[in-house]
Amino acid sequence: MASINDNYLKLKAGYLFPEIGRRVKQFTEANPSAKVIRMGIGDVTRPLTPTIIKAFHEGVEEMAHFSSFKGYGPEQGYDFLREAIAEYDYKARGANISADDIFISDGSKCDTGNIQEIFGSENIVALGDPVYPVYADTTVMSGKTGDSDETGYFEGIVYMPCTEENGFVPQLPKEKVDLIFLCFPNNPTGAVATASELKIWVDYALENKCIIFFDAAYQAFITDPAIPRTIYEIEGAEKCAIEFRSFSKTAGFTGTRCAFTVIPEGVMAFDKAGNPHKVKLLWNRRHTTKFNGVSYPVQKAAAAIYTPEGKKETDEVIAYYLENAQIMRDRLHEAGYVVFGGINAPYVWIKTKNDMKSWDFFDKLLHDANVVGTPGSGFGPSGEGYFRFSAFADRENVIEAMERIKNLK
Ligand code: MLT
Repeated sequence: MASINDNYLKLKAGYLFPEIGRRVKQFTEANPSAKVIRMGIGDVTRPLTPTIIKAFHEGVEEMAHFSSFKGYGPEQGYDFLREAIAEYDYKARGANISADDIFISDGSKCDTGNIQEIFGSENIVALGDPVYPVYADTTVMSGKTGDSDETGYFEGIVYMPCTEENGFVPQLPKEKVDLIFLCFPNNPTGAVATASELKIWVDYALENKCIIFFDAAYQAFITDPAIPRTIYEIEGAEKCAIEFRSFSKTAGFTGTRCAFTVIPEGVMAFDKAGNPHKVKLLWNRRHTTKFNGVSYPVQKAAAAIYTPEGKKETDEVIAYYLENAQIMRDRLHEAGYVVFGGINAPYVWIKTKNDMKSWDFFDKLLHDANVVGTPGSGFGPSGEGYFRFSAFADRENVIEAMERIKNLK
């Protein structure tokens, strides 16, 4: 008899974004003439830039000839991409990360979920509340929790509330924890962490032999030079932090798929006898067993982001989305909402009016304004009464959506 991994049965609700998609589909089928504006999932809308596309085409062309054709590539990624990342994303910022610490993958969503399997089920996981739902769901799937209560909290996870009072930056947990998810710039609140705030976490992790999973998928949206772009700008992080990065939001690769995970040599986890093991080697074992690498043309395209033209073009796209975020912030504020985020981040986070529940606001917005956003409660119980808008939309749609929201009764 085949039996299941019954941790999956603990997940009562479906994954957030398909549920949004289901509700939107139901609405559009019933209202085919409605012009629905989608600002829910953070999916990019600007095409890949000319320099990236040129490199992509060149990569495809190389596959057409005996002399340049490529079969399996290195599972960890081609050196040309790993070296460019090490040079421009890390060494240029004073972070001592080498190409060998970098594992190219097909997405940070996959990596932040997959990393769980190399850590034992006895680990206590701490995560922000609200935060990207993948962290909690994959903690459950990997057997590190009990059941959830009626509020949606899983037994065994340490939730760190991110509230208006703490500027949506979590405080150190009171309980002992082992694995800590941090996400900055934050999805969904758009909050960023300063170097001194990150230092507190790094010191805590070093002292308690914890590992920080630092999701920096939105680092490209940081415009404030005082805000760290990588956790490895913080002294000691190379001994306790794993960083996840993605080309999805940085350069429009949500459909193309390319990301990377950084695990420096010094990051250790312990066996039952207390002996240290290099996490990098365990991840390498997993990666080489379960993954065959990102396609060559996609890695060529990703490497083009690090050329001067590629950098200039992708910066322009980021600036476009950030301008959207600014317009959204201004208009939502004028419409009477309390607004957060959207400055060093592509997400604008608002408080609903009159304590309306997040999903009720979702339905109202969809039905009365034909605008899609993301209910804050979908990111964790502390997101209840909040709502997220993504700035990855066309300018025209952003302006139109904000006008409709202003006129909402
Ligand atoms: C989001 O909208 O939160 C993101 O697009 C989800 C993701 O990156 O997987």
